[in-house]
Amino acid sequence: MALYLITGIGGFIGSSLARALLSRGEQVRGVDNFATGRRENIAEILDGIDFREADLLDLNAMKKACAGADYVLHQAAIPSVPKSVLDPLGSNRANVDGTVNVLVAARDAKVKRVVYAASSSAYGDTPTLPKHEGMAPNPISPYAVAKLASEHYMTSFYRCYGLETVSLRYFNIFGPRQDPSSPYSGVLAKFIMQMLRGEQPTIFGDGEQSRDFTYIDNAVEANLLACKAPAAQAAGEMCNVATGRRVTLNETFRALQRLTGYSGEPKYGHERGGDIKHSLADISKAEARLGYKPKVGFEEGLQKTVEWYRGRGA
Ligand code: UD1
Repeated sequence: MALYLITGIGGFIGSSLARALLSRGEQVRGVDNFATGRRENIAEILDGIDFREADLLDLNAMKKACAGADYVLHQAAIPSVPKSVLDPLGSNRANVDGTVNVLVAARDAKVKRVVYAASSSAYGDTPTLPKHEGMAPNPISPYAVAKLASEHYMTSFYRCYGLETVSLRYFNIFGPRQDPSSPYSGVLAKFIMQMLRGEQPTIFGDGEQSRDFTYIDNAVEANLLACKAPAAQAAGEMCNVATGRRVTLNETFRALQRLTGYSGEPKYGHERGGDIKHSLADISKAEARLGYKPKVGFEEGLQKTVEWYRGRGA
């Protein structure tokens, strides 16, 4: 049994990781400041975890949180492209300064490995598809820059201090517990909620933008594999975490119409600043280095997600 520290445990991905680890009999400690995480995401598991309400920017709290941990799954972030465009300083503080604090604390506590929630937004709007890790990054939004900077910090801590790190470039992770309620929420959570309520969703742009939408179970699996993959293959590396398939927002809207029973049409609005047009991953590096294979496809994931929100009374 190992002790895992999850930063951002109140978030959608952090709380999903916590559940998966508990079900495997592992020990879980978590921190969150509830800037974007939600207490209800961990309410049911609170008794089984060592939870501490703390901010990443509090180095002392991060040092205490890392003490005795075997692995750190660093998920905490302000995960929004448009929010970072409005508030680049806030994005940088949480997403870069916060990460460096976690790394310093993890290094000093001699944790075995830090796995980081990096972002596919690092690739930017380069026309090449699919995106592979050998490509030069080309971030557009302050969020993408911050996520990329933190990825470099991960590798730097491996090179300079020997702290093992793995960065996982998430491609649009979705699933149960993703917050649908903020204007910065991920598109699938928002659309599912709106369509179940009979509200008209807005597509920003022509809807022909595409994403490699990745169901949460695949991201959870990638984190667990990243902790255990041999250091020679994984330490200091970054890998895409996705499905290797992309769908457009228009196609997604149609699929959601079938699943939710929403019969209206979407509204089309202005394209959103900082957005990229297409996103699709080459996942061969994660396959080779981590033994990763996506287990849940887009349609199945979408169905499970709609069922979950429906079960919550949307
Ligand atoms: C998402 C993640 C980001 C992650 C990145 C890569 C969220 C909130 N953001 O960014 O953390 O790093 O994937 O994995 O999960 N859209 C609409 N209508 C809406 C909302 C969005 O048309 O009401 C459009 C957007 O303009 C965009 C697409 O849907 O074209 C996806 O947007 P979003 O879900 O915010 O994700 P990304 O910006 O791709």
